[in-house]
Amino acid sequence: MAVRPILRLGHPLLREVAAPLGKFDTPELHALVQDLLNTMEASNGAGLAAIQIGVLQRVVIFGLERNSRYPDAEPVPLTVLVNPEIEPLGEDRELGWEGCLSVPGMRGLVPRHRQIRYRGYDQYGQPIDRTVADFHARVVQHECDHLDGILYPDRIEDMRAFGFQDELLASGVLPAAAAVDE
Ligand code: NI
Repeated sequence: MAVRPILRLGHPLLREVAAPLGKFDTPELHALVQDLLNTMEASNGAGLAAIQIGVLQRVVIFGLERNSRYPDAEPVPLTVLVNPEIEPLGEDRELGWEGCLSVPGMRGLVPRHRQIRYRGYDQYGQPIDRTVADFHARVVQHECDHLDGILYPDRIEDMRAFGFQDELLASGVLPAAAAVDE
C-alpha cells in the first residue's frame, strides 16, 4: 500500500508489452491495485496503467469524479480493468487533448475512436463489458495503449498541437483545463 514512483517517457519499461494475468483475487493483485489507486490519487490523475509503475501486467485503473477543474469532462466510474480488450464501434474518430502522468507538464491533441466496447475483468475476476463514448472511451484507449508500450505522443498527427501545458494555455491553443493526466 504505497504511492509508487511513476516512470517517465524515455524509461524503457514504458515501451514493453505487458503480460495478461492468469489469476484473479490474489493478494499480489489486490496489493498492486491498491498501489495504483494510491499513486493515481496522489498525482490527481484520471487513469494509470501498471506498466507506469514498472509492473508489466495488463492491469489499468481509471475514473474521474465530476470536477470543477474539468467542467467538460463527463464523470467516469472508478474502474479496475484487467486483461482489457477494445473493439472500436463505427468509424468516427475525434480529436481531444490528452496528458499523461508519464509525460508530466505536457499536452497533446490525439485522435481516438469516439465509441468503443471494452471488455475485461475486475480484480476479483468479475467480467466487465461496457459500451462507452467520448471521454470515457478516450481514457480507456489511452490506458490500454500503455499495455502495448504506446504513449499518447505516438498518436499525435499534428505535432504543433503538442507542447508544455503552460505554453499552450498562454498561446490560446489549449482551452483552459481541457485535459487530464492519464
Ligand atoms: Ni498515460
